Amino acid sequence: MAGKKTKHLTKIRSGSNMEVLSLQAEGQAPGVAQGLGNKGIKRISGAREIKMNLQNVVEVEELTKVFGTKKAVDGVSFTIREGEIFGLVGPNGAGKTTAVRMLTTLLPPSGGTARIFGHDIRREAAQVRKFLGYVPQALSADGDLTGFENLLIFAKLLGMSRREQKTRIAEILEQMELTEAAHKLVKYYSGGMVRRLEIGQAMLTRPRLLFLDEPTVGLDPVARGRVWELLNSFRSAYPLTVLMTTHYMEEADLMCSRVAIMNHGRLAALGNPAELKAAAGNPGATLEDAFRFYTGGACEKEGDFRELQRTRRLARRLG
Ligand SMILES: Nc1ncnc2c1ncn2[C@@H]1O[C@H](COP(=O)(O)OP(=O)(O)OP(=O)(O)O)[C@@H](O)[C@H]1O
Ligand SMILES: [Mg+2]
Repeated sequence: MAGKKTKHLTKIRSGSNMEVLSLQAEGQAPGVAQGLGNKGIKRISGAREIKMNLQNVVEVEELTKVFGTKKAVDGVSFTIREGEIFGLVGPNGAGKTTAVRMLTTLLPPSGGTARIFGHDIRREAAQVRKFLGYVPQALSADGDLTGFENLLIFAKLLGMSRREQKTRIAEILEQMELTEAAHKLVKYYSGGMVRRLEIGQAMLTRPRLLFLDEPTVGLDPVARGRVWELLNSFRSAYPLTVLMTTHYMEEADLMCSRVAIMNHGRLAALGNPAELKAAAGNPGATLEDAFRFYTGGACEKEGDFRELQRTRRLARRLG
């Protein structure tokens, strides 16, 4: 990474990563107090309070993706520890989705690699996939099917036995609070219900690593809070590791143990929310201030109509 402007704050800190982790594991009251709680939503407890192991479950090394002449992801490196909620933020077009698509083995890297639970995403894609759940940025549920049918298709594709399909789908519907709506067409679901269904689909196999690409885009604050509460209920059962992208800095501050800020394909900063805020300069800085500090407050300069159109369409359908 020499010569690049990445600031691995956790490494720069004096003291060990263990210290940083134990700080996170105790929960950070300030983040919670400033977060969704201020908007009259029930406090989401346990977001960062779940114990994390020191085992790295994701090790990303110089990951790169080039589309034509465009370096969408440009030599990105980071690690994620078991049990973390790791946030990937950055302006539109920063390369977040491209990075996620590579890590989920859906897109071959142009350079670099990553190991997930020790398996190389390039050489051992099939092994890697066994550990993963993925909720893509674009809508993945079929509106012309019921919630139950959407889950059933996934369960069949996953090769579950009939008995397993029945019990696991019932469990997921219950956990995602969709039992009553199970036999309604998804096109009549609220945005929050659709997202919960998609997360439920991704959780059918009890993955150990869940990728959520803008899981709460277009949702109102109450629906967002609900999504996180339900995710935390999975996390209290076992050390589920989550990598999420979001444009909501409050959400990243509240939920994530560490946040990587991407800009123009590169990592501009990486640290826990408190460290990133402190590095932004002024006392009382928010994560949004840190985001502006590290990205220059800039939006993607090149025409990114395709992205904008996709995001707006998704937000409209969900909202
Ligand atoms: N299949 C593709 N072909 C060509 N260019 C692409 C492709 N996918 C992404 N890009 C470009 O790569 C860059 C990074 O896109 P990406 O979707 O990863 O950004 P993002 O950070 O997820 O943005 P957003 O916040 O809008 O979702 C953008 O300039 C985008 O136009
Ligand atoms: Mg994206």
